[in-house]
Amino acid sequence: MDPIRIDYTNVLADAVGEEHGITPAELDGLAGPSRAALAAVEARRSTDLRWLDLPYQDDVHRRVLAYASSVAGRFENVVVLGIGGSALGNRALHTALNSPYHDVAPPPGQPRLFVMDNVDPDLIGTFLETVDPTKCLFNVISKSGSTAETMSQFLVFRQLLVERLGEEAHRAHVVVTTDAEKGVLRPIVREEGYESFVVPDGVGGRFSVLSPVGLLSSALLGMDVPALLAGAAAMDERCRSGELTENPALLYAAVQSLMQSRKQKNIAVTLSYSHRLRDLADWYAQLLAESIGKRRSRAGEDVFRGPTPVRAVGVTDQHSQVQLYVEGPFDKWFTFLAVEDTVHEVTIPSTYADRDALAYLGGQSMGALFAAEREGTRIALTDAKRPNLTVRFPRVDAASVGQYLYLMELAVAVMGEHYDVDAFDQPGVEAGKVAAYALMGRKGFEARREEIERATAGSQERVI
Ligand code: PA5
Repeated sequence: MDPIRIDYTNVLADAVGEEHGITPAELDGLAGPSRAALAAVEARRSTDLRWLDLPYQDDVHRRVLAYASSVAGRFENVVVLGIGGSALGNRALHTALNSPYHDVAPPPGQPRLFVMDNVDPDLIGTFLETVDPTKCLFNVISKSGSTAETMSQFLVFRQLLVERLGEEAHRAHVVVTTDAEKGVLRPIVREEGYESFVVPDGVGGRFSVLSPVGLLSSALLGMDVPALLAGAAAMDERCRSGELTENPALLYAAVQSLMQSRKQKNIAVTLSYSHRLRDLADWYAQLLAESIGKRRSRAGEDVFRGPTPVRAVGVTDQHSQVQLYVEGPFDKWFTFLAVEDTVHEVTIPSTYADRDALAYLGGQSMGALFAAEREGTRIALTDAKRPNLTVRFPRVDAASVGQYLYLMELAVAVMGEHYDVDAFDQPGVEAGKVAAYALMGRKGFEARREEIERATAGSQERVI
């Protein structure tokens, strides 16, 4: 398997100067803490960080693949009802590993994929007007089995299916992925007899892409699930070393940590020079933000930590964001996603060869232009003293994407140690969920509703 590689030349002081770049002493200073951080994470592998072992759950993988082949060809659409960690990985895998036009013209026998990670009534309403639910398989994903957004969608689509197909027949159109015991979905699964998969203990939403949460829709859409898992396992192997400059996860975590703590780069931009990898940057944005963005340290002190992730796409954002990146405040560092081999090549015709403004393009490939634009942006950022690192994918395939997913999950877990925050909880998200339950009148949340009403009573809205 060809490995993905990290080129960190341009985050170093040699490339961008000591004010913005990491010095050898700063990197050396994190060698010991990195080794300790890895040991701390590894020590929890078989207890509460079970996501580390997701590449090796052979029985689960067999069940996922068997279910996918048992329903192959039966549905025009797979509809993921889920949000956050229960949605972003599905979309990222689909856009990376299937054609950008898959949903316009799916290959014969393969379904389209819709990821419904919003409750905007215009989104759901339009879907209801456009797509026949009886041609859909609804893949309901919720670790907690109680998230209002996902549950409300489930209720809407279930009702429609029952109206159109009847109590019995609707069941074949629903598959559920949720906790083995907790939440309201599991008892519903038992009552209804829905096909179901488990989000195992020790696998939080944003670390669940390699569980049935992400694997089921991948298998249903014909992606190479074994290669994805093999890629993740290969990265796991590469990341066993305690040496900072040998272990890509330790290196990436150290760079992120130093960029913020020593170089005041509060913003981490992932700049994908691959249209197909663009949603991996979205997936990573959630992983980083929800894991490291925390009010309290592990000792419970207020620290208000965390980098702000931003995602951008090359070359598109060269004509949107890059002006700011090259000349704006020195508050960002950059991760390029670069791809060495593309599947397609497109040659630019030599039309108008007598016009200098076009002649240089004639006969060249789009791939050469794309690479030149990427390198041009790297050079411009480096010249402007903007630290940047490149993750090089040999190609966009399941094995490389599996490597990337595992790399970033482990890197973020290690960052939790460097930032001294709990990378695996999300109290800020829970706070929003509780407030929404209270406002929607959920039983048991009356006290919170009263608090909100008291706090807002008498406050004057200012709207123009
Ligand atoms: O990463 C997380 O834990 C969150 O983003 C959750 O995935 C998200 O809140 C959805 O939760 P659930 O899967 O419980 O419905």
